[in-house]
Amino acid sequence: MQEIRTFHPRRGRMTPAHFDALNRLLPQWQIPAGTLDVLSLTSGATNAVVVEIGFGVGDATIEMAQRDPQTLIIAIDVHTPGVAQLLLAIERLGLTNIRLVHDDAVVFLRQQVPEAALAEIRVFFPDPWPKARHHKRRLIRPELVTLMAQRLAPDGILHCATDWAPYAEVMLEVLAAEPLLTRATPDMGERRNRPMTKFERTGIHQGREVSDLVFRRLV
Ligand SMILES: C[S@@+](CC[C@H](N)C(=O)[O-])C[C@H]1O[C@@H](n2cnc3c(N)ncnc32)[C@H](O)[C@@H]1O
Repeated sequence: MQEIRTFHPRRGRMTPAHFDALNRLLPQWQIPAGTLDVLSLTSGATNAVVVEIGFGVGDATIEMAQRDPQTLIIAIDVHTPGVAQLLLAIERLGLTNIRLVHDDAVVFLRQQVPEAALAEIRVFFPDPWPKARHHKRRLIRPELVTLMAQRLAPDGILHCATDWAPYAEVMLEVLAAEPLLTRATPDMGERRNRPMTKFERTGIHQGREVSDLVFRRLV
C-alpha cells in the first residue's frame, strides 16, 4: 500500500549555483543508500546522531551544527532549492557535521535507520495541513510517531515545534498516547536551545504563538 505523503511536491526557483551545488556537493554530503551505519557516523569528533525532519532552508540546521560540533545532524528535506542552499552553506562555512537526505524522511527512517539508533529527532514547524481532509498527511500522527520513537535510543529525545495552535493540541495528544514516550522536562524549558527557524519567524510576524513539545523515549 502506498504511504500517504506528508508533503506536496513543490517547485522552487533553482539558480545555476543551486544546480552546481547539487551536482558537486550532494554526492559528498548525502547519506548513501542502504542501512545507516550509525557507528561509522559517530566516529571522530561526533558522538551523537540526530535527525532533523523538514529543515526547509536549513538556517536552524546550520546554527545547531555550529553550536554543537560534537553532534552529527542528518538533515532531511524533499525541497530541492533548500537542499542546494544548505549544501552551499556547508561549503561556505566549512561545516563537517551535517549529512543530507534529499528524500522522504518517513521512507528514510523506515528503510535505513535501525531501531534505537538516534539520540534525537527534531521536527520543527512541520506543515500543519489545516484542512480536516488533509490531517492524514501530518507528520505527527500516531503511526509515524511510533516509527520515530522506535528509531530513538532509550532516553533519546523527540523535539517538535509548531506555530499552529490546533496542531499543537493534537501533537500533544498523539505524543502523550505513544507508549514508548514520556514528556520530558528539559533543564532549559521546552524550547531548549532551539534556534529560530524561517517558518517560525513568519509565524511570529503573523501573530501566532509557538509551542515546543519535548518527549523522551523510555528505556
Ligand atoms: C513548513 S516547512 C518548515 C521548514 C523549517 N523546519 C522551518 O521551520 O523553517 C516544512 C518542511 O518539511 C518538509 N517535509 C515535509 N514532509 C517531509 C518528509 N516526509 N520528508 C522530508 N521533508 C519533508 C517540506 O518540504 C518543508 O520544507
